Amino acid sequence: MATVIYGSEVSASIKSELKKHVEQLHNMKKRIPKLVVILIGNHPASMSYVKGKQKACEQIGMLQEVLHFNETITQNQLIKQIEVLNNDHTVDGILVQLPLPKHLNEQQVLQTISYKKDVDGFHPYNIGKAVLQEKDTFLSCTPKGVMRLLESIGYDDLSGLHAVVVGRSNIVGKPMAQLLLQKNATITVCHSKTKDISMYTKHADIVVVAVGKAKFIKKEWIKKGAIVIDVGINRLEDDTLCGDVDFEEVKQIASYITPVPKGVGPMTIAMLLENTWESYKRTNEEGEFK
Ligand code: GUN
Repeated sequence: MATVIYGSEVSASIKSELKKHVEQLHNMKKRIPKLVVILIGNHPASMSYVKGKQKACEQIGMLQEVLHFNETITQNQLIKQIEVLNNDHTVDGILVQLPLPKHLNEQQVLQTISYKKDVDGFHPYNIGKAVLQEKDTFLSCTPKGVMRLLESIGYDDLSGLHAVVVGRSNIVGKPMAQLLLQKNATITVCHSKTKDISMYTKHADIVVVAVGKAKFIKKEWIKKGAIVIDVGINRLEDDTLCGDVDFEEVKQIASYITPVPKGVGPMTIAMLLENTWESYKRTNEEGEFK
């Protein structure tokens, strides 16, 4: 039976470290790091994710603001708003909650965010720096959080291991494959056009799944003793949450498995806080406003 990796516990210890740093700033009456989240429309899942981000900031004493716009906001209005935040010296992190309504150009929006405040790590500048393994970048929060979970179970160097990433999104799949590669794993990326995904997952030492399909990964698809990381969050008809992995089945065969909820989700938020803290520190080290 697999050991369950609780991201909720790993993230709690990361948040408590960050809280100490922010408390010191409060005690010294210094400026406090601030995250601004832009939310457009009333997408229920997005609203719930944004609430989680707000709550986490409050827990560690970080400032946060949510700018909630109607779905009718135009591209120009949104870009102007981001430019205001880019020039606001009290703002360290800017996050535009995705997905955006169809009439908005997502790439143009993300590229408007100053790469110095791009705590989501979605700006092409930061993606490029991440691929080059340069330090002064922001890594995409979910893949960064998954790497921390692997470290938490002693898997820092992945030499000799075969990692299969299922899903190729810009937010998770692509950066995930990069980070696993940087830790020396051999990578396969499967996606909706892959002929037989199970042919790859069956041979994987590590499987990371981010496809957004409830219980997509079955026990027969997993090698005995594999590590299974579930990035999916799906709402079932009875209103409960479940991942992309059939947890009850797969935990019988995996060595480690992440649950949903309390798995990867809390790590994404912890990494967002960490990136915002990092942005704040960089501003201060530069000795100038961004
Ligand atoms: N939508 C789903 N996950 C994310 C995320 O990590 N960042 C943003 N901005 N939007 C998301």
